Amino acid sequence: MCGIVGYVGGQEAWPIIYEGLRRLEYRGYDSAGIAVVDPYGDIQLRKTVGKVSGLESTGEHPDGSVGLGHTRWATHGRPSHENAHPHTDCEQRIAVVHNGIVENYLELKRRLIDAGHEFGSETDTEVLTHLVEEGIDRGLSFQEAFRRMGRMVKGSQAISAIMQGDAAEICALRLGHAGGIVVAQSEGQAIIGSDLPALLPLLQTDSNIGQVAFLETGEMVVVTRDKVEYQDLEGNHIDKQPRMVSQEEILVDKAGYQHFMLKEIMEQPQAVASAMRERVNFETRRVDLLDFPLSPQEIAGLDRVMLIGCGTSLNAAQVGRHLVERYSGLPAEAESASEFRYRDPYIGPGTLVVSIGQSGETADTVAGMQMVKDKGGKLITICNSEGSQASRIADGTLYMRAGIEIGVASTKTFVASLTILNLLAIFLGQSRGVLDTAKRQELVDGLAQAPRLLGDLVANDGVYQYLAQEYAQFDNFLFLGRGMNAPIATEGALKLKEISYIHAEGYPAGEMKHGPIALIDNAMATVALAPKDFLYDKVVNNVKEVKARDGRVLAVLTEGDSQLSADVDHALYIPEAPEHLIPLLITVPLQMLAYHIALLRDRDVDQPRNLAKSVTVE
Ligand code: F6R
Repeated sequence: MCGIVGYVGGQEAWPIIYEGLRRLEYRGYDSAGIAVVDPYGDIQLRKTVGKVSGLESTGEHPDGSVGLGHTRWATHGRPSHENAHPHTDCEQRIAVVHNGIVENYLELKRRLIDAGHEFGSETDTEVLTHLVEEGIDRGLSFQEAFRRMGRMVKGSQAISAIMQGDAAEICALRLGHAGGIVVAQSEGQAIIGSDLPALLPLLQTDSNIGQVAFLETGEMVVVTRDKVEYQDLEGNHIDKQPRMVSQEEILVDKAGYQHFMLKEIMEQPQAVASAMRERVNFETRRVDLLDFPLSPQEIAGLDRVMLIGCGTSLNAAQVGRHLVERYSGLPAEAESASEFRYRDPYIGPGTLVVSIGQSGETADTVAGMQMVKDKGGKLITICNSEGSQASRIADGTLYMRAGIEIGVASTKTFVASLTILNLLAIFLGQSRGVLDTAKRQELVDGLAQAPRLLGDLVANDGVYQYLAQEYAQFDNFLFLGRGMNAPIATEGALKLKEISYIHAEGYPAGEMKHGPIALIDNAMATVALAPKDFLYDKVVNNVKEVKARDGRVLAVLTEGDSQLSADVDHALYIPEAPEHLIPLLITVPLQMLAYHIALLRDRDVDQPRNLAKSVTVE
């Protein structure tokens, strides 16, 4: 959470930092701020509550070629001007930006207040500023004071600071897993950021900026115009080799779509094809996961699979559980990483834990993975971000290869996860000899159709727009599904609530009569997932129960269904498809419905309130 950008070089810092922050807004947008060291060596500070664009109206931009910026996702202290970063000391000698949580901030704050420091915000971050100030007042250099501060704080975070004067120096450090820092340098200039998109404004004019280094936990960097120096928190030099990142990793734009979310929904056919590339042989009709880290003997020795994730990735894990159970013959469980991390689960030699995450940085998921690692368990991750925490902790990564996802609501990475979970389940079944050849071939043939079928579905925009108009006025939604589609009902409800702010619940359809049925009346909209699968008749009964109570029903049906279509108020159709593809296909109309309802309600689709793309705090 929170985005950090710092620049030092021969150009004006403000526009580069401003553009970098705009690219990092997916990390949070509760407030924003930029501090620049002006030509007289003084720190000039501008802040705004809300989005980065608000900085445009904070007056004339300060001149200067060294600066730091921040876009905030609030943890300690509400979104306000006082709590916006950068934070400065009383005399505005130092400016600090921060991503993460200072766990011992209360203890540090009390001590600093006793020592005479005055605080102007409710944030934990401000203690960092005063700690650096304290070091400087004790005669340390800026670097030494920053390093000392790094040794005093507890928790998982990324911190960066600049100081007044003519040193033209940015210090940054990383502690724990919550906050990354990338560093890029080329001739006469350098940029730091919490994530690769921060580098974009410079990359467009200087291709050498593609050489980047990532800080590891416990590492610090001191960046000047001509030099980048890596150290540990004791000041010992660290050798670090930058690596080239591709333009594609960094470069993102809306490609003519009104929103990133829409663009990313439209990209789903390619995302699925890309997830299968070189992993599925459509001639031999086998799945070969060359990037799977377990040996054939280890795979044969597996006796259980546990899948963990949060939010949309948890919904993917729940679908994955069905797929793994059905096709690999292994018992499977799925659980929220935020619960899993605080249990003491048995992780035996035959347990395989699979974490799922778009970002690979979600704090709860990373902590759950670390626990598995500490218990000596076998651990793989399904992840979209190269170099993420998750991919570093896991024994192996099955990359989604969906391309960067900017819309805060996950879309293409969800269907990419479902694709890889299908591959994983088939691969495990195939490797363990429990999936007979005919079934394996049928499953692989089904997967081959997925990009085309998804392509047909995303093209149905007119239908989704029409239905959105019919349903946008409802304030309560119930999404019902069974079997593999129960988690898809939850995902449909999550998409709707997060981008339209409409109350929506996802429920296993069979559970409806145990409570939620009390909610049914003509003001409650029910979205019933009733594709033609082996549970179809059961869902039909549930839909009839809703209609008997005057509920309004929009059903997602298989093309050609004439049985249920006559009983419901509206129907959406997916093409006939094998059962393992149905969760992917049903997802599309639900995403599109949520998207168009949110538009009708005039919501900020790409950056819904209170959310952030990477949830790197607990
Ligand atoms: C919902 C959404 C979130 C994320 C969750 C986990 O659309 O995007 O619920 O799925 O924050 O994020 P990752 O997948 O990065 O671990």
